[in-house]
Amino acid sequence: MTESDTDARAHPRKPANPFLATRNEAGRAARSAQDRNRMWWELKPMTYAPWEEDDRLPQDAAAFEAMERYLLAKSPFLRERFDAAAQKGRRVLDLGCGSGVLSCLLAKHRAEVTAVDITEQGTRLARQNAALRGLPIRVVRTDAEAMGLADQSFDFVLSWGVLHHSESTERALAEVRRVLRPGGRGMMMVYHRNSLVYYLKGLYWLLLRGRIIRGESLDSVTDRYADGYYHRHFGRRELAACLRGVGLEPVRLTATQQQEPILPGLRGKLDEALKARLGWYLVAEFVRPKG
Ligand SMILES: C[S@@+](CC[C@H](N)C(=O)[O-])C[C@H]1O[C@@H](n2cnc3c(N)ncnc32)[C@H](O)[C@@H]1O
Repeated sequence: MTESDTDARAHPRKPANPFLATRNEAGRAARSAQDRNRMWWELKPMTYAPWEEDDRLPQDAAAFEAMERYLLAKSPFLRERFDAAAQKGRRVLDLGCGSGVLSCLLAKHRAEVTAVDITEQGTRLARQNAALRGLPIRVVRTDAEAMGLADQSFDFVLSWGVLHHSESTERALAEVRRVLRPGGRGMMMVYHRNSLVYYLKGLYWLLLRGRIIRGESLDSVTDRYADGYYHRHFGRRELAACLRGVGLEPVRLTATQQQEPILPGLRGKLDEALKARLGWYLVAEFVRPKG
């Protein structure tokens, strides 16, 4: 019996935790470690609809456009610090494109976009998104850890909320280096270990919900509140070392978080300052050095 079964029986009217329920289902259906990652996202594609809803798939251009507005409204970093217009005319890879929200944003700014996802659902949604909005993007279904894409064929790689879910972030980053041209740049966002979410939610589950008695750890309880089958959390030094380990040079590492206050009631500069130190998202901007 799975943990979500237990929860559902103990509280018949309470919906099962969608993260755990999906993890259990993906684990049962998958055939390999990376297949568990893929299956999770086949079951719950990234559409920005609430995770617990049954019908989470956008159907028309207005719904896809609303997803773009939602993502930008929720992400101060993407809105204020990512210059999509600067990618005009460049060959850009959106690695782990989900429904193609950022692929389409870049295509609107006339970047030459290739959108990649490991899932059937993601590639289908990204194609539908681009077609409904008349945007020219190339969509390829492939695994970030073994991409069937040519060496040095991109000027910029964007990977937002993806590589911490993959079986091996290191293998995926080695592929990012291979497909970037020397001098090419990139930006990736992964989960941040030194964050309030990691410690506060982790301690809540470990101590208040008693998971520590079952031998669980801060890492293992993330299954209860984070998306994806795997959700590795990185410290700054660890992420910089991963990038350097494959021959990519980190240019800047920035912690950030969603628009909502990091703690209830916190606002303005204090909220911003805390997110910049202890936000749940860690963004790395990097370059593939020339030579
Ligand atoms: C959290 S969603 C982010 C989607 C998109 N980047 C966005 O910001 O809306 C993670 C996406 O990464 C994809 N993904 C996970 N591991 C992958 C891998 N190894 N190769 C390619 N895509 C992957 C998932 O299928 C999913 O669509």
